[in-house]
Amino acid sequence: MAQGSANLNIMVKAARAAGRSLVKDFREVENLQVSMKGAGDFVSRADHAAQAIIKEELMTARPTYGWLAEEEDSEIEGKDPTRRWIVDPLDGTTNFLHGMPHWAVSIALEHKGEIVAGVVFDPAKDEMFYAEKGTGAWLNESRLRVSGRSRMIEAVFATGLPFGGGKYLPASLQDLGRLLPVCAGVRRWGAAALDLAYVAAGRYDGYWERGLHAWDIAAGIIIVREAGGFVDAIRPEGQSLLEDGQLIAANSELFDGFAKIIRTR
Ligand code: IPD
Repeated sequence: MAQGSANLNIMVKAARAAGRSLVKDFREVENLQVSMKGAGDFVSRADHAAQAIIKEELMTARPTYGWLAEEEDSEIEGKDPTRRWIVDPLDGTTNFLHGMPHWAVSIALEHKGEIVAGVVFDPAKDEMFYAEKGTGAWLNESRLRVSGRSRMIEAVFATGLPFGGGKYLPASLQDLGRLLPVCAGVRRWGAAALDLAYVAAGRYDGYWERGLHAWDIAAGIIIVREAGGFVDAIRPEGQSLLEDGQLIAANSELFDGFAKIIRTR
């Protein structure tokens, strides 16, 4: 791993510990011959167990920081109100439940309203994506850089599609109607944190999604930015990116053209 700050090392350690627990449970899920409800409950327990591991690691090391996490009933305000951890112990829960090895642990650190470090760990592929403000983005030992593609027709994008009656379905279908004819393809792999990490790695040329939560995207945003990519709200007039949960990310060459397509209503 590249040299990082003490905080980054703590985050990586916590992500690895949670990853070990999740990998063990994932093998179980693959073998589980139980009803969907049984598997769902099992995955929910795996998710909570991973979160408990992360919380123990982070809050022991930095007891004054705040804590915002997906599987927590409410946010914990820290003694130090300027810093908080933003955690999704298992991003890509549906993939996990269905035995598909595409899910991740996502941990971000926010300071004075700005994300200053992020870790997205894909334990099934042993890929640790991480970044700190001003020091670049990394995948294991290698420096990350967003793709250099500048032609929409050669670009591959990722998105997330609303399910179960999500309110953004019409908007997402309109996006696809405009984007698909002018690009090389759109993927929907089901883990927002990894979608952003893949933009940083130049695997995807861009990504957009609506209806996300802070814990889905906080770590991924800094990883994309530190890899030289752009991230912005779909609605620039909306709330802050983390609160709004509707974002576009892409390499700098494609960003404006891509954003124009997604922002057209
Ligand atoms: C979900 C995933 C998915 C995205 C959903 C998220 P979760 O997070 O990131 O890709 O489309 O909007 O809620 O529930 O698996 O942590």
